[in-house]
This record gives sequence, structure tokens and C-alpha cells, in this order.
Amino acid sequence: MTPEEYLAIQKDRVNKYLEMFLLPETIKPVSIHKAIRYSVFSGGKRFRAALCIAACEAFNGDQVRVIPVASGLELIHTYSLIHDDLPCMDDDDLRRGQPTLHRVFGENIAVLAGDALNALAFNLVSRAEDCRIIRVLADAIGTEGMIGGQVADVESEGRSDISQDDVMFIHTHKTAALIKAGLEMGAITAGASDEDLKITGEFGSLIGLAFQIVDDILDIESSSEVLGKDVGSDELQDKATFPKVFGLDHSKEIARKMIDDAVAVLTRLHADTDILQGLAQFVISRVY
Ligand code: IPE
Ligand code: IPE
Ligand code: MG
Ligand code: MG
Ligand code: MG
Repeated sequence: MTPEEYLAIQKDRVNKYLEMFLLPETIKPVSIHKAIRYSVFSGGKRFRAALCIAACEAFNGDQVRVIPVASGLELIHTYSLIHDDLPCMDDDDLRRGQPTLHRVFGENIAVLAGDALNALAFNLVSRAEDCRIIRVLADAIGTEGMIGGQVADVESEGRSDISQDDVMFIHTHKTAALIKAGLEMGAITAGASDEDLKITGEFGSLIGLAFQIVDDILDIESSSEVLGKDVGSDELQDKATFPKVFGLDHSKEIARKMIDDAVAVLTRLHADTDILQGLAQFVISRVY
């Protein structure tokens, strides 16, 4: 199975589950329920969910029990994108091929929809039997994880003295932390050993960092039609990106090398890693 086929299957499963879980638009206050559905069902790749499910599958875990966990992960991710697009953050107008949430529903509802998705995500993840899963997620999105990365990201805007370590810190925290956590959550669901869990995390850090490097590259080389979001946004905001600090070509080499390293890490696992390997390659082959 190609990674694209695997993503399509898992996307369908997660979307069906979220369709059932999220309140209908008719429930009061109607605006927030409409806003949540507008953002959640606007066509994300569900890459983090697929990784979580694939990690669970690699260790022969229960394919039904992992779905709420993987779905919760995607709600966190969607919340992070809604807030990331706000005028006080990246100030973007296009997301997943449609106007950003705040452009349609207003900034107040966009902030609240993000907050609501954060809460809903923990409702879902709490259905897991092993409460380590909740802690892994909470740590990954806190001030030593995603939020820490987002803080460093906004504080780096417009600065010309950004070092390689600075941009590495930003990308590791704002993006790789959640991707790593998703893989670990899948592995915990399957009851993976501590050693396998650690190795899965190493794999996650590498592909998570490569994922954000490729995101930076696509912001330069893609088009908004293909990407479904504003291109050139990083340059406009004078963001700390890999291409800015390492150069475009070197950034591509670094991402490629990270994926090679990630695939090598997988060989140390006591698991069937074919799908995870494919998903790792998808990180650099993807066009959106
Ligand atoms: C975009 O993530 C934001 C980053 C952290 C790079 P994705 O490229 O996974 O976005 P969707 O979910 O497919 O829209
Ligand atoms: C987003 O990074 C990271 C998080 C939302 C946590 P970017 O700002 O580069 O993502 P895009 O390019 O807007 O999707
Ligand atoms: Mg951002
Ligand atoms: Mg952004
Ligand atoms: Mg980006």
C-alpha cells in the first residue's frame, strides 16, 4: 500500500469518527459548532492521525481503540492551526483551501473554537486505557512543546540574528513535538515496551522536524492552489525558517538526511514498520 492510500483510508476512519463525535451545527450556540466543523472538516491530510494509527498497528495494537486517540490528536492540530492563522500570529487568510476561520467567523469565535477543540481533544484522548497517553499529549503541546515553539516562532519574527540552534528549537517544539507524541500515543495504545517507545519517539522527532522543514520549503516553492494556504507567508512575516538560516538547497539536503536517519531508526524496532517507513518518505515527497 502506498502512503497516500494509507492516509486516505485513515483519514476516512478519523473523519467518520469525528463526524459522530462533534456536535451538530444546530446546537446552541450555533456559531461555535459551525466554526468547529468548518475547520475540522476542511480537508486536512490527517497525517498525525495516520502516524498514530500506524504506530499502533506496527505493534499489533487494537485498531478500534486507537481511533479516538488519533482523532483527538487531529483536534489539537486543528486548534493549533486556527490560532496560528490569527492576525496576532501569522495573519493568514487561506487554510486548507478556504478562508481562515477568523476571516469567516471573526477573531473572537476563532479563539474560542481553538480553545474548544483543545478541550474536546482531551475528552477523546481520555478514553484511552493507559493515562500515560494523556500526559504525553499534554506535555507535547505545553510550554516545553508546541506552545513553547510558537512563542519562540513569534518572538523570532523580523530578527536577523537567528542561529541554527534557534530555528532548530522552534521547529522541534512547534511541530515535531506533536508528531512525536502522536507516534508515542499509538505505540502506548498497543502496549509497546519502554525500549520500543523510546525508539518510536526518536523516529517521531526526526520526521517531525523534517515535516516542518518541508513546510518551510513548500512556503517558498509551491503555489497557494496546490498548498491550500498562503505561500510566501514566512518571508512576508520575516519568520525564522530553515531556508532563511541554512539556505534552500541545504534545507532540502537536511530534510532528506533526516528521513534517511528516521528510516534507519525504525530498523531497531521490534515491529512491522513498512507503513511507518512509507509515511516517513511521504514527509519529503508530499506536495501539500
Ligand atoms: C501544517 O500541518 C502546519 C505545520 C505544523 C507544518 P499540515 O501540513 O499537516 O496541515 P493539514 O492538517 O494537512 O492541513
Ligand atoms: C505551524 O507552523 C505550527 C503550529 C501550528 C503549531 P507554520 O506557521 O509554519 O504552519 P503553516 O505554514 O501556517 O501551516
Ligand atoms: Mg506559525
Ligand atoms: Mg502559519
Ligand atoms: Mg509554514
